[in-house]
Amino acid sequence: MKKAFLTGITGQDGSYLTELLLGKGYEVHGLIRRSSTFNTDRIDHLYRDLHDPKARLFLHYGDLSVSGQLMDLLHSISPDEIYHLGAQSHVRVSFDMPEYTGDITGLGTLRILEAIRKTGIKTKFYQASSSEMFGAAPPPQSEKTIFQPRSPYAAAKVYAYHLAQNYRDAYGIFAVNGILFNHESPRRGETFVTRKITRAATQIKMGLKEKLYLGNLDAKRDWGYAGDFVEAMWLMLQQEKPDDFVIATGETHSVRDFAEKVFSRLDLDYQKHVAVDPRYFRPTEVDVLLGDPSKAKKILQWQPKVNFDQLIDMMLAADLEIARKEKTLFDAGFARTNSERFS
Ligand code: NAP
Ligand code: GDD
Repeated sequence: MKKAFLTGITGQDGSYLTELLLGKGYEVHGLIRRSSTFNTDRIDHLYRDLHDPKARLFLHYGDLSVSGQLMDLLHSISPDEIYHLGAQSHVRVSFDMPEYTGDITGLGTLRILEAIRKTGIKTKFYQASSSEMFGAAPPPQSEKTIFQPRSPYAAAKVYAYHLAQNYRDAYGIFAVNGILFNHESPRRGETFVTRKITRAATQIKMGLKEKLYLGNLDAKRDWGYAGDFVEAMWLMLQQEKPDDFVIATGETHSVRDFAEKVFSRLDLDYQKHVAVDPRYFRPTEVDVLLGDPSKAKKILQWQPKVNFDQLIDMMLAADLEIARKEKTLFDAGFARTNSERFS
């Protein structure tokens, strides 16, 4: 039985990847943070009581800021594959917390790579690199495009990207960079723009909210489905040689297009409900992301299965269900509405 170790297992991608790996028969170990509220919602459906002999998912407390413990964990688990997904992953927040973002998103990668090097375990390492690294570089962006990062988050990811390449060259570690463009799902964090829109639009549909405040409506992103993208992560670690790959759909849409489509699916006019709040603008913006995934198609034989419209339908169906439950609670006098979220 192959063993995998995931950082960021409680995040969007961590949950889909865990599903995939358990489905392939892996034993999965994940790093989780101690939190005063439960932070395992996205993986609770996969967890079995440890007394169950069939349990194959194991969680370990830790933090990407603590190297000694990462070393101990990697030494004792000795995983065949490491998927390093943990990060302060919010671009807007990285302007508010640049030092923390550099520590966790940048140095966090160094701590894992050093743990691999110092323990000497034989493993394969996946670095969650990002299309955000392309920043101001004109589209389409591919593996050959020069990075022009536009945020502390992007700068930290560029640092981590080069570390993965350097540890590959210097120490012969099987380290790969998956340069993933934006990918979304019903499990997407609620302060990322797609989910912020589908959550608010469905609440508006149920009469729980009137307005949605957004930032830059003109930004364009290449949005895919997280379930498809984690498959590409796994494929990268099944190759004979380590390499770096862009993972994208090859289509781009503006935030405005996304909002318009979501509201019209619900028979609502987005112009009546969406307002711009400068609070959500970034000091520097990435205007257009559009990936060229031809290398991944050719070498990994990977391509996305879920298209833009299907992604919206999937997110809307899940959020309508949540909004219906909220409405029931609200009518019974329990729920809070109109909660404006940060970022
Ligand atoms: P996410 O939902 O924000 O998940 C981030 C994960 O990192 C969570 O499990 C979080 O734990 C964990 N984490 C944060 N700080 C940590 C710390 N100090 N120590 C240990 N764990 C920590 O992100 P995602 O969308 O799944 O993305 C996964 C990775 O891919 C990230 O590295 C992200 O930057 C990168 N990426 C994402 C996209 C995208 O479009 N989704 C595209 C390109 C690259 P808690 O649950 O406790 O907060
Ligand atoms: N979050 C947010 N909230 N974004 C908004 C809003 C808003 O109210 N209004 C407009 N936007 C715009 C942002 O300015 C940005 O141009 C675009 O919507 C997408 O924002 P996010 O959904 O926050 O994602 P991101 O592109 O900044 O970052 C995500 O994708 C990266 C890959 O390119 C994150 O998942 C990163 O972790 C990931 O690396």
